[in-house]
Amino acid sequence: MCGIVGYVGQDDAWPIIYEGLKRLEYRGYDSAGIAVVDDTGALHFRKTVGKVSGLDASILGAAPRGSLGLGHTRWATHGAPSHANAHPHTDCSSRVALVHNGIVENYLELKRRLTASGHVFQSETDTEALSHLVEEGLSLGLSFEEAFLRMGRMVKGSSAITATLQGEDGPICALRLGYAGGIVVAHHEGQGIVASDLPALLPVLEHGSGTPSVGFLEGGEMAVVSRDGVRYFDLDGNAIVKQPRRVSRDDVLVDKGGYRHFMLKEIMDQPQAMTAALRDRADFANGRVELPGFPLPPSAIGALERVVLIGCGTSLHAAQVGRHYIERLAGIPAEAESASEFRYRDPLIGPRTLVVSIGQSGETADTVAAMHLAREKGATLLTICNAEESQAARIADGALYMRAGLEVGVASTKTFISSLTILHLLAIYLGHARGRLDDAATRRLVDELSRGPGLISDLLGEADSYRDLAYRIGHYGNFLFLGRGASAAIAAEGALKLKEISYIHAEGYPAGEMKHGPIALIDPGMCTVALAPNDVLRDKTLSNIKEVKARHGVVVAVLTDGDDEAASEVDYPLFIPEAPELLQPILTTVPLQLLSYHIALMLGCDVDQPRNLAKSVTVE
Ligand code: F6R
Repeated sequence: MCGIVGYVGQDDAWPIIYEGLKRLEYRGYDSAGIAVVDDTGALHFRKTVGKVSGLDASILGAAPRGSLGLGHTRWATHGAPSHANAHPHTDCSSRVALVHNGIVENYLELKRRLTASGHVFQSETDTEALSHLVEEGLSLGLSFEEAFLRMGRMVKGSSAITATLQGEDGPICALRLGYAGGIVVAHHEGQGIVASDLPALLPVLEHGSGTPSVGFLEGGEMAVVSRDGVRYFDLDGNAIVKQPRRVSRDDVLVDKGGYRHFMLKEIMDQPQAMTAALRDRADFANGRVELPGFPLPPSAIGALERVVLIGCGTSLHAAQVGRHYIERLAGIPAEAESASEFRYRDPLIGPRTLVVSIGQSGETADTVAAMHLAREKGATLLTICNAEESQAARIADGALYMRAGLEVGVASTKTFISSLTILHLLAIYLGHARGRLDDAATRRLVDELSRGPGLISDLLGEADSYRDLAYRIGHYGNFLFLGRGASAAIAAEGALKLKEISYIHAEGYPAGEMKHGPIALIDPGMCTVALAPNDVLRDKTLSNIKEVKARHGVVVAVLTDGDDEAASEVDYPLFIPEAPELLQPILTTVPLQLLSYHIALMLGCDVDQPRNLAKSVTVE
């Protein structure tokens, strides 16, 4: 959450930082700001409430010029989105510019002490204490780097912090504390750039040749970036050597590919996302699953007693589907739990537990903390994540990457499909290794999976038809999503998608639970979306649909092609192609994504950047 960009080089810093912030806007968009050091060494600050576009030089008038600066796009934690609370923050003498992502847990204590010694605060943020701490270090006679490091040692909590100083040489100092908020550092042809994520590097890449080498800061590491290069230190000030990594243009490209929104592009990309997740893992020729990256040898799989799947939000819903796959195909007791709950329990896990963390970003603070807990308890730790340089990938014993490409829309879509695909593969792999699935059963399941991308493509061929339905039902103020078995998790995901991008109240419920309470809500003003594909539970869900209709509720139902009987019971039938049962959660997801997208569009909502949200939730 929050995006940071810092630049030092020969070019004009403002457009590079501005473009970088635009590319990081998915991390937060409550306010934004840029500070630039001009040719005389003076610092200039510009801030806006709301999106980064408020810093567009054409709106602002002349932007300050200079070849050193830093910027920030904010997801508010401490203090409302306001001009005063926008980053960069500074000190009493406006010598320091500092931006921050994370939470300073001891900021009240720091602020009290600093205020008592005469520092005057301008904002309600926790961040501002950090710039005053740097100022305090400078007034003690420390160099900027020493003062920055001293500040870092005083801060509690997980944070990414970047600062620079008036005077034309910088440098830019960047620090990562704990496991929240990544920092990537690149140096390329006399230009240094610091950013929260790779896409912010593109403006520098575009003007240079070749690809830069980058360093990813670990917790407790600091980078000092100048025109001459990058130096790395630990928190004690000892120099450290980091292995630079090459990144390609594909790693940094962010492009809507001609679609109106990233979310729509990412929905339309789902056949490719599923294909990429299957590549080298599903051996279609031999009917087998191979999982390079799985952390246990086949001989140890038989000894597993439990699988615990953890994640947050959409990734939690993937975990819930994964639980069904694993119990059904591998025969191992499995449970799915919100990482934010798991981490605060004392879960009964040990060496015979496989903990599977699921996350698009691999940086979600609660998921990462839950992984640390699982590690302490001796469980084997597998992560399914999209971001290969993430905390999750580093902590886990093994990783199965989604390979979905960058997901920019704040609402997760394609990475949900990737997660389900990999969980399906994992369940087959475990089931075969434990002898529950023989070769023939494994081959049948692998054949079924091979149909997935094509079936999704068939569904996407009808993508535009959801617009009409959105116009018919988008005015309902309340939605109830119902499903049974794995479809209960898809119902929860459908409700989450709708509420987060359209701001309509929506609940996802196991259909069998409806009569235990939610049925009281049914009236002509409530729209129910029921998932009743052709599976063993279809008849049960159909009974629930009838109960809703008997109470004059409006029903949209996701059914299997040709199910005229169910279609005649509902107001708005939506169809998925006939498909093997275990592929149905993937297929029923797609109509719900498209419906939410078109409802949000119809309501004039900001589909890619819904209010109050951010793409990676690095605060607890
Ligand atoms: C919903 C959504 C969020 C994320 C959640 C976890 O569309 O995107 O609910 O799923 O914040 O994020 P990751 O998967 O990065 O751990």
